[in-house]
Amino acid sequence: MSLAFTPSPNIALLRESVTIAVSQRAKALKAEGKTIIDLGAGEPDFDTPAFICEAAKAAIDSGQTRYTPTEGILPLRAAIADRAREGGGCAVDLVAQEVVVSNGSKQSLFNACFCLFGPGDEVLIPTPAWTSYYEMVQLARAVPVVVMGDPDHDLKVTAEMLAAAATPRTRGLMLNSPCNPTGAVYSADELREILLLAQSRGWWVISDEIYRRISYEEPAPSALHVASARDNLVVVDGVAKAYAMTGWRVGWTIAPRALSQAMTAFQSHATFHTASMAQHGALAAVTRAAESDAAIAAMVAQYRTRRDAGLAVFAGTPDLPLVHASGAFYFYFDVSAAFPGHAEPGSAFASRLLEEQGVAVVPGAAFKTPNWVRISYAAPERDVVAGVQHAIALWSDLKR
Ligand SMILES: Cc1ncc(COP(=O)(O)O)c(C=O)c1O
Repeated sequence: MSLAFTPSPNIALLRESVTIAVSQRAKALKAEGKTIIDLGAGEPDFDTPAFICEAAKAAIDSGQTRYTPTEGILPLRAAIADRAREGGGCAVDLVAQEVVVSNGSKQSLFNACFCLFGPGDEVLIPTPAWTSYYEMVQLARAVPVVVMGDPDHDLKVTAEMLAAAATPRTRGLMLNSPCNPTGAVYSADELREILLLAQSRGWWVISDEIYRRISYEEPAPSALHVASARDNLVVVDGVAKAYAMTGWRVGWTIAPRALSQAMTAFQSHATFHTASMAQHGALAAVTRAAESDAAIAAMVAQYRTRRDAGLAVFAGTPDLPLVHASGAFYFYFDVSAAFPGHAEPGSAFASRLLEEQGVAVVPGAAFKTPNWVRISYAAPERDVVAGVQHAIALWSDLKR
């Protein structure tokens, strides 16, 4: 008997990631022989530093190929706690038992949402935000509440804006600084005000700091070093972006002990631990600080050069609204003036840019801001410059 697939209520609201759909279309065009400048991917184009690869190879050669504890090997968790403690603030008494290592920070975020939120809960999401936040909150059967950022303030939200969106059912808040897709960075004062509000209202804060090391002006502050207490705080981080280790799948949460235990129990049934050799690579990344800091500084210097080169092109169109790109590796700009009255100007723009100019970018609809477009500059400088030039030429042409 053949059985037709009917989705369970668990995934009733699930949508395919728009970012993946764009990269698939770009791949299909490439397969047809077209030259594509890919500025869609949110992935470092650098190789993982060699000393990290060597550490993982050595782990395999020395037989570190068996199951590890669900929450990750103790030396890695201890090293993560040590480095977080260095920043002071409410991290000073952090211990390894408050760290859970997962299959990338994506799983860490999912674990936190799933273990903290449930039916009837509302979770505030400063928007635009990474597409998976909305889905993760919904998979926990909670309600994602869009809190639109202020376009005059780099699309960031303030404590007042969050307070205005809250209801008695508000249970948590997702923060992301530096932000994907905007590249905006919250200052310590901005972060402090939001954390104080969350503390006073009894909301959980999930602070996704995966881009924290990629910041071009001030160092991006961590919620751990700014918050007055961390009993309502989950900090999510990992090795993917700063260390160019996307394929290794190592991320982690830093959270109060009871929540860490619950997330460990959940993960033990869902995925168990992340790969043992990947954990040993991450251990080298986190403990060999001088080498990894130098490698990160070299990559950030290159992102900065590309950013500056792209910004020099944007400078020719001061009337194109562009978020100040101070962290991560994204430009975010508003193309609505090119498509007056269109429901999704960013999607129309991205589609024309790809089909006509061969430049892949991500429409802002992926981040619940359909007027906007994201360009990733985690790509060679010549591609970044050419891609931004094509984007600006198209925008200027359409706006005429
Ligand atoms: C804001 C944000 N958080 C988390 C992730 C997931 O990173 P990881 O590779 O550690 O799962 C991404 C990846 O694009 C991201 O942009």
